[in-house]
Amino acid sequence: MEVWILFYEDIDSSTNEAFEIRRFLAEGKEMGITVKVFSPEQFDLLVTDKDRDMILIDGEAQSLPDFLLPRTPPIETGYFSLAVIRQLERLGVETYNGSVCIEAVSDKMHTHQILCEQGLPTPTTMLAKFPVDIALVEKHIGFPVVVKTLLGVNGTGVFLVETEDAFNDLMNLVGETNPDIQLIFQKYVAASRGRDLRVFVVDGNVIACMERRAKDGGFKANYSQGGSILEFDLNEEAKQIALKTADVLDIRVAGIDLLFTDKGFTICEANTFPGFKGLEQACDVNIPRTIFNSMKDRLTERQSDKKLSSVNIINK
Ligand SMILES: Nc1ncnc2c1ncn2[C@@H]1O[C@H](COP(=O)(O)OP(=O)(O)O)[C@@H](O)[C@H]1O
Ligand SMILES: [Mg+2]
Repeated sequence: MEVWILFYEDIDSSTNEAFEIRRFLAEGKEMGITVKVFSPEQFDLLVTDKDRDMILIDGEAQSLPDFLLPRTPPIETGYFSLAVIRQLERLGVETYNGSVCIEAVSDKMHTHQILCEQGLPTPTTMLAKFPVDIALVEKHIGFPVVVKTLLGVNGTGVFLVETEDAFNDLMNLVGETNPDIQLIFQKYVAASRGRDLRVFVVDGNVIACMERRAKDGGFKANYSQGGSILEFDLNEEAKQIALKTADVLDIRVAGIDLLFTDKGFTICEANTFPGFKGLEQACDVNIPRTIFNSMKDRLTERQSDKKLSSVNIINK
């Protein structure tokens, strides 16, 4: 089995993301899987009906792998990496995760639109329009309000605005300086202040769950913002919400974030590039191995389907 990982950083760098790529390489080696790491810009994309079992890497034709594992958020690498994923998909390579869900989930508004349509619990969310009609925000969402940039990650574009006055000031500032920015306003889930759950789902199974707690009484629980983590024993309700979220968004390797409510849980967001360094420390799991095992199962299924269809052709 051959797996390609799409990654744009130096794999020897000290970031969590590079550490995770090294984990994939080490586990792959132990499992007898060929794992190769490529950066999106190494590819040249040629749309042609010739040589559809090849792709150009560093200008040379390479035969295709069994699976692609993108670990390159398009928000950081732009259109090109999404186009590389699409090209490999269209050439028949199975991806963990696919371009459609990567694109949908990178847009927080679109994610909530899909989840709400499917009857899943999400906080009331509104797309900003400038000038902002504060009375409308007060009526439908209320204060405090959570303001988020549409495409933000790692908690950097998320603010809790406590009062209507502070919200008014912030919106005037944004309207003056950057009226083209896309923001969402979201109902503040007070019961979850400074804590949330990260549920890790691989191919329709909950693999692990951890609670994240913000440092120093902050409101954002992101691990990358310095939050602390501990294993969490998930109840059946939360498990079903996480699995259904991954299912309706069609995400194979998903990090589903849940907020605590007075009655249960609501969905904060879904991630198609979930990190797992913290998760492997908090919980007794091996994420690269779990992902590779899922790929192995799918490859075996594919091969037996192929055999079955060739038997059917012979029998006709
Ligand atoms: N509506 C909300 N109510 C309460 N806390 C929230 C809400 N939305 C986000 N948070 C907190 O802020 C953190 C970051 O928000 P999130 O939407 O996940 O952005 P990012 O994609 O940057 O991680 C969450 O992990 C959670 O702790
Ligand atoms: Mg988040």
